[in-house]
Amino acid sequence: ENVQGEIGMEHVTFGYLENQPVLKDISLHAKKGQKIAFVGSTGAGKTTITNLLNRFYEIWEGKITIDGVDIRENGLESLRENIALVLQDTHLFTGTVMENIRYGRLDAADEEVIAAAKTANADAFIRRLQNGYDTVLEGDGANLSQGQRQLLNIARAALSKAPVLVMDEATSSVDTITERQIQEGMDALMKDRTTFVIAHRLSTIRNSDMIMVLEHGRIIERGTHTELLQRQGRYYELYTG
Ligand code: CTP
Ligand code: MG
Repeated sequence: ENVQGEIGMEHVTFGYLENQPVLKDISLHAKKGQKIAFVGSTGAGKTTITNLLNRFYEIWEGKITIDGVDIRENGLESLRENIALVLQDTHLFTGTVMENIRYGRLDAADEEVIAAAKTANADAFIRRLQNGYDTVLEGDGANLSQGQRQLLNIARAALSKAPVLVMDEATSSVDTITERQIQEGMDALMKDRTTFVIAHRLSTIRNSDMIMVLEHGRIIERGTHTELLQRQGRYYELYTG
C-alpha cells in the first residue's frame, strides 16, 4: 500500500458530550504535501480536528478520508502507521534516548536515529546527557525539560516515514531561540508530508498553504497568510493583536 496522504473532511460534526457539538460542519481538503494550519482561540476546536483525523473519537456526521478512503474503512493500525504525531503532551517511555526516538521506526539504524535527532536540533543536548544516546529516561522523560521532551518527539516524527504529520503545539515549551533554530528542521520534517499544524505563535505558520481560522467549532475564515491579512478579519486581529 502506497499512501499519498491526501486528506478530506466533509461536513464533519462532532461533540464529546451528547447534544453539545464542538465541531460543526467542517469541510476541507489537503492535497499531498500541503501544510494546513489551524488557528483560533482556546477551546475553538483545533485539537479536536486532529483527534478526529486520528480516530481517537468517532464523528457524529460527515466523513474523513485519506486518499479518498474513509478512515473508518481501514484499520486503526494502518492509520497509526500513516500519521506521525507531535503533540503538546509528550509520550516517552522508560528506556534509552535511542530507543525512544527509534519508536518512530523500529527498523531504523543508529545513524538514522542520530540524523533524525539532528533534524530536531536534539543531538547537542542528547550528547551532553550522562550517557548520551544510551541515557535511560525515567517515566515519561521526567529527567528532561518539557522542551527537551518535545525535541525528542520531533526527532521521533522525523524518523517516521508516515505521509501525514500532525503537530499540535509541537514547540510550545521550546524557547523562541531554539524554536527559530529548529525551524529548518521542522521544514525538513514537513517536506513532502501532508501536515496539520496548530501553533499559538503565528509566525511559525505564516508559510502554510492554507490557514483555517476556527471559532466556536466552525471555520470562519480560510486562506493564505497574505490573503487573510488583506481581509482584515479575525486572522488579522489575532496576528496584529
Ligand atoms: N472538550 C471536551 N472534552 C474533551 C476535550 C475538549 O468537552 N475531552 C471541549 C472543550 O471544552 C472545548 C472544545 O471541546 O470547548 C474544543 O476543545 P479543543 O479542540 O481541545 O480546543 P483547542 O482549539 O485545541 O483549544 P486550545 O487552543 O486551548 O488547545
Ligand atoms: Mg488544543
